[in-house]
Amino acid sequence: MYHISPSLLCADQLELKQTVAELETLGVDWLHIDVMDGSFVPNFAFGTDLTRAIGRLSKLPLYVHMMSVHPMDFVKPFADLGAEYYCFHYETTVNPFRLCQQITAAGMKAAAALNPSTPVEVLADLLPYLSCITLMAIEPGFSGQTFLPHTYEKIRKLRRLIGTAPVLIEVDGGADIPISMECIRSGADVIVGGYFTLFDKKGNLCDNYQAYMQAQKEI
Ligand code: DX5
Ligand code: ZN
Repeated sequence: MYHISPSLLCADQLELKQTVAELETLGVDWLHIDVMDGSFVPNFAFGTDLTRAIGRLSKLPLYVHMMSVHPMDFVKPFADLGAEYYCFHYETTVNPFRLCQQITAAGMKAAAALNPSTPVEVLADLLPYLSCITLMAIEPGFSGQTFLPHTYEKIRKLRRLIGTAPVLIEVDGGADIPISMECIRSGADVIVGGYFTLFDKKGNLCDNYQAYMQAQKEI
């Protein structure tokens, strides 16, 4: 079973309410919320108040992608607002075990993201504590960037590393439909639906979703 996780960063920010309702009707699996602190990445996005409002609006699970240099400081606020996954960047903490323990103790599923230049092997010992790993296929911070092709090999390596452990692989950034399908063939379980798929301005959300799902059926 493959999942698509729409990146709300790509939606028209003034029409989030309508977009979330439409995504829910279409049947996407969860919502990808890009939290940016202006330090880990040169951009700001999605604080706790907006994420809470989205959570109240929708029953879809929230996957919080924390692009923050202080992921430990925000475990409780995101747990309190009902986030399902809390995904910290491995590069931002020297205590990833403690952070995973805090996330699960707060009632969320722990996930870790890796920047394009961080090798997948760094997560080997952390696997029993993780529910999902997000491989960045772009430098984090903005949507609409070009997919970095070494990501395919990272997916294959991570798939081998995970073996039979119940850890999902998510790919985030720059994926159009053919790239998404190649990521799935390489071993990915979840693709972040962004600028080049669900939110491709050449089509509308519904047609883009149908086109994506059709391609996925043909894998
Ligand atoms: C960027 C974010 C993304 C972004 C993905 O740091 O993590 O989720 O939307 O990029 P696109 O939209 O280009 O796939
Ligand atoms: Zn993201």
